[in-house]
Amino acid sequence: MIGVYDSGQGGKSVLKELVALMPQEDYIYYADTAHCPYGPRSPQYIIDRACAITEFLMDKGCEMIVVACNTATAAAISYLREHYPIPFIGMEPALKPAALSSKTGVVGVLATSGTFKGRLYLNTLARFSEEVKVIQRVGEGLVETVEAGILDGEQVEKLIHDCIDPMLAEGADHIVLGCTHYPFLQPVIERIAGPSVTVINPAPAVARQAKRVLEGIKKMEPSTRKGSIEYFNS
Ligand code: DGL
Repeated sequence: MIGVYDSGQGGKSVLKELVALMPQEDYIYYADTAHCPYGPRSPQYIIDRACAITEFLMDKGCEMIVVACNTATAAAISYLREHYPIPFIGMEPALKPAALSSKTGVVGVLATSGTFKGRLYLNTLARFSEEVKVIQRVGEGLVETVEAGILDGEQVEKLIHDCIDPMLAEGADHIVLGCTHYPFLQPVIERIAGPSVTVINPAPAVARQAKRVLEGIKKMEPSTRKGSIEYFNS
């Protein structure tokens, strides 16, 4: 059984890729809706929630957990890996593929404030900031919009303009979606950004990494899978 969790519904953009790649597996998706959004919360708060959710998912029989949340990955994944005996897959800030393929030398990253403060992101930024100019924006209001199921329309367009117009003005040719809620808004982001901008969703790469790790575990376990998904909310 594979556990997948997020502060809310955003992680379903990762679940979708996992199911596309490994449809025969059994999944439990946990949305921590009662504590969403994570973006502005302290790392300790997010670690406490990560432990509670990990214990819930392990009690349900999960043998691997995908932290389908960039903010939770930034705050808690090292702690989880040190304290629990199962593999954890986290979200990667996809700055590297954006930086490597940018022609204008300018890339935009949209994420929560918690993700921007994370060590993983800061290390990646330090590695690539000499080669490309990185324009960061917190996606203010976007998580709330997706949680409310509002995925298009005037209100969404305004929020997205506020976030990406400064990136476009600087000539960004890649925009990285550094929060798992944002792929739900990808069609609007692409429409506003136009065809010369590539929008990068790291979820397919994370699903491929989960598959590699799972193949390692499976060598030991006989298969009793049925291809199911169960959903829980806090
Ligand atoms: N979906 C999350 C992420 O990838 C969390 C957003 C939030 O709860 O603020 O960062």
